[in-house]
Amino acid sequence: MKIHDKEFIKYISSDEISITLKSIADKINVDYEGKNPLFVSILNGSFIVAADLFREIKLESEISFVKVSSYHDMESSGDVKKLIGLNEPIFNRDVIFIEDIVDSGRTIKKMTEEFKELGAKSVEVATLLYKPESVAVDLHVKYFGFEIPPLFVVGYGLDYNGLGRNLKDIYQLKP
Ligand code: PRP
Repeated sequence: MKIHDKEFIKYISSDEISITLKSIADKINVDYEGKNPLFVSILNGSFIVAADLFREIKLESEISFVKVSSYHDMESSGDVKKLIGLNEPIFNRDVIFIEDIVDSGRTIKKMTEEFKELGAKSVEVATLLYKPESVAVDLHVKYFGFEIPPLFVVGYGLDYNGLGRNLKDIYQLKP
């Protein structure tokens, strides 16, 4: 499968993704029983994970969407830009960030610091993909679907220069 100038091959199927998101949601449903967490989806990439994960959440909970940016082309630049779009009060809230991928970890690290400064009671992360070998900061990722090596991946919300987010499966760059 070709996107722009690159060839990709299938890596994780939509069925595996569904099962995995359901199991993350099950854990959250147990861990946050009796609580009212605020889910925060970090756009753009996480909108599809957020839609599917959030529908498996049985808790009384809200969801909000914020935007930052850290990537240019295929490399993580490391400079996480400013948070925009946050309308809810964060003070005393149990916050769960929803991500499609934790790569260098800088986005989540920065967001966690900002939300703690805003007075969040707790801050955790739920991400579909997690690249532990790429993480360059001190970070705890409580909920993750798949630990993957430092591959370039597209699909299910993840893009290559804007394209590929609508693919139902996840693809990796053809070796
Ligand atoms: C991706 C992804 C995460 C971030 C992870 O977003 O959705 O937010 O990169 O990278 P990090 O762990 O190295 O910080 P990106 O900035 O590519 O924007 P997008 O969601 O609009 O594609």
